[in-house]
Amino acid sequence: MTDMQSPVLVEFDNGIAFVTLNRPEKRNAMNPALNARMLEVLDELEGDERCGVLVLRGAGESWSAGMDLKEYFRDNDDKPRNATLKARRQSGGWWSRLMYFEKPTIAMVNGWCFGGAFTPLVSCDLAIAAEEANFGLSEINWGILPGGNVTRAVAEVMRHRDALYYIMTGELFGGRKAAEMGLVNEAVPLAELETRVRKICASLLEKNPVTLKAAKDTYKRVRDLPWDLADDYIYAKLEQMLFLDKTKGRDEGLKQFLDDKTYQPGLGAYKR
Ligand code: ACO
Repeated sequence: MTDMQSPVLVEFDNGIAFVTLNRPEKRNAMNPALNARMLEVLDELEGDERCGVLVLRGAGESWSAGMDLKEYFRDNDDKPRNATLKARRQSGGWWSRLMYFEKPTIAMVNGWCFGGAFTPLVSCDLAIAAEEANFGLSEINWGILPGGNVTRAVAEVMRHRDALYYIMTGELFGGRKAAEMGLVNEAVPLAELETRVRKICASLLEKNPVTLKAAKDTYKRVRDLPWDLADDYIYAKLEQMLFLDKTKGRDEGLKQFLDDKTYQPGLGAYKR
């Protein structure tokens, strides 16, 4: 998957799958070809042992300039309504897959991030931005509101006043502001971005992958549940995890701490 013409590139490095949105000449705007390919890439990586963590980045100076305004909007304007509906369904398919992806996901925001790009951004488990990156809910600037579940995505992670401010003004904000508002975990200088992301990947790769998947899905799903249902769901997920983990990580973790005394769970992960 190293075809430079492909709208998505995938490279593997020591357990990390770097997935690159690759339309730099269009600032990595998401067009139908890119969105269709991303769905395939996620399917491929789900079962690929070379992918322990997925890092989503953009080629060139952008993360993604959002939806391709020509191919998704202008080109559909004269077509029957079902063409628009089909385009909508097709465009967001990979974002919802990303939300509950089998492996941990990190958005590595290296530059421009606009509109529709906020949904995959929020769908990633973690997000680290360059301080130099610029974000914008620019929909208002060209006369629409944030669709493609962008409005829901920002409501998930941003504070009420911040979300409304940027939805209504379309103003740009930088990486540090994105971190301050909770849209990304942290912002670092662009020159340090990949190093920081690799460090987080190294920490995640030490962990039991079955436990990681259960832990992140559980967190995302219980947030909207009442307490009694959440409690029940959490234990159901925990027991499912114990069933699925053929390595019996929990028992091994207890053994290495209580019997072997080779590590302390408060200070790091057991050795897999
Ligand atoms: N859709 C389609 N084409 C785009 C998009 C987009 N979202 N973003 C950039 N492009 C294209 C431009 O039309 C241009 O194409 P051309 O070379 O054929 O003329 C090319 O990418 C380069 O764009 P420039 O504007 O020349 O690049 P520059 O580096 O000066 O500016 C910036 C970058 C700020 C990202 C600018 O391109 C821009 O404002 N893009 C639109 C951002 C946006 O509002 N996205 C939509 C959000 S709403 C939604 O997603 C539904």
